[in-house]
Amino acid sequence: MTDLTKEIMTLDEDYVMHTYGRFPIVIERGEGCYCYDTEGNKYLDLIGGIAVNILGYGDPVLGEAIGKQAKNIIHTSNLFYTIPQPRLAKRLTTLAGMRKAFFCNSGAEANEAALKLARKAAKLTGRETKTKIVSTYNSFHGRTLGAITATGQEKYQKSFLPLIPGFDYIEYNNIEQLDIIDDDTCAVIVEPIQGESGVHPATGEFLLALREKCDKYNVALIFDEVQTGMGRTGKLFAYMHFGVKPNILTSAKMIGGGFPMGCCMADEKYMDIFTPGDHASTFGGTPLACTAAMTVLDRMEELNLLENCTKMGEYFMEKLKTLPHLKEVRGKGLLIGVEFDKPVAKTISTEGFKHGVIMNSIGDSIIRLVPPLIIKKEDIDFAVDVIKKIMN
Ligand SMILES: Cc1ncc(COP(=O)(O)O)c(C=O)c1O
Repeated sequence: MTDLTKEIMTLDEDYVMHTYGRFPIVIERGEGCYCYDTEGNKYLDLIGGIAVNILGYGDPVLGEAIGKQAKNIIHTSNLFYTIPQPRLAKRLTTLAGMRKAFFCNSGAEANEAALKLARKAAKLTGRETKTKIVSTYNSFHGRTLGAITATGQEKYQKSFLPLIPGFDYIEYNNIEQLDIIDDDTCAVIVEPIQGESGVHPATGEFLLALREKCDKYNVALIFDEVQTGMGRTGKLFAYMHFGVKPNILTSAKMIGGGFPMGCCMADEKYMDIFTPGDHASTFGGTPLACTAAMTVLDRMEELNLLENCTKMGEYFMEKLKTLPHLKEVRGKGLLIGVEFDKPVAKTISTEGFKHGVIMNSIGDSIIRLVPPLIIKKEDIDFAVDVIKKIMN
């Protein structure tokens, strides 16, 4: 181990709160889909900053744009208009089929904004009891108190009780349980594909039935597209695969290409519910973040990333289907879950990085793959060969 690796790991152990289980490597630099540790080892990164690095590492155009903006104004405040923010809002909401945007810095914050928006809209109806928020089991919506309450997984909630009142949970894809939605419901929050819990896609019928219930009872339908949004599934937003449109759409992860950025977008009905003082974020939509997001959209078009995502996603899934002990390969585009019929996920993840491929294990038997959208066939071939080698 080099002195640098030792120094960094010791400092981390002594001074950083232990909220992460880390791979035992120190990442020092990156290029495209590959990164390098302080020992000089090279890795194909199929986690991609946890579904963030849409352009991979070190995209020169994004780096240049961020650098240029940083030399001018990094941050001023939302007390002023800035040039990049409204321009980005128009471009992003138009592409997303929404009307107005609120910018923040993360997925959890985007969901907090969405939940507050729905609660306020319900208040304005005059029905005091219209406060219930419905979420799904095995969802993931972030780590703030509101977001863990929305997250239908006890393991993320139990150390932080009591949770925020007014939440109910139903089984994902269970249409019968939608009867829980009534006049006292103000919002339903759902991921079109549950990412964190193992890549489980919604059925079209479920989302359609959800839309109908929300329309019937005047409920805000919130799609959490923090992980599925910005092209991850081959369309700009995953709802576009299903033809079911939400009222409120949240996104984060890939928007800034690695620069922190979150966004809560709303349709005509919800776009003017917030008024000054209702919601804010000091760093929300800084000139630097908005410039990064604009450049990501430019690069997506220039590099045809939606098309590459669809093609490489299909290619990846076909190759993965040749693996032994396979139960299922599921997902869309480059949001892929591989489930095995025995508990090999941790071994694939820990052995994988020793062979130069970084992968994410979920539970005992699922591997989640969320690589940069610039990934090529030869990278995929290499990854699948490594998994096969580990399994033999
Ligand atoms: C669907 C979904 N929502 C919300 C979040 C939370 O995002 P952040 O970590 O940026 O707060 C995540 C993160 O994995 C996610 O996958």
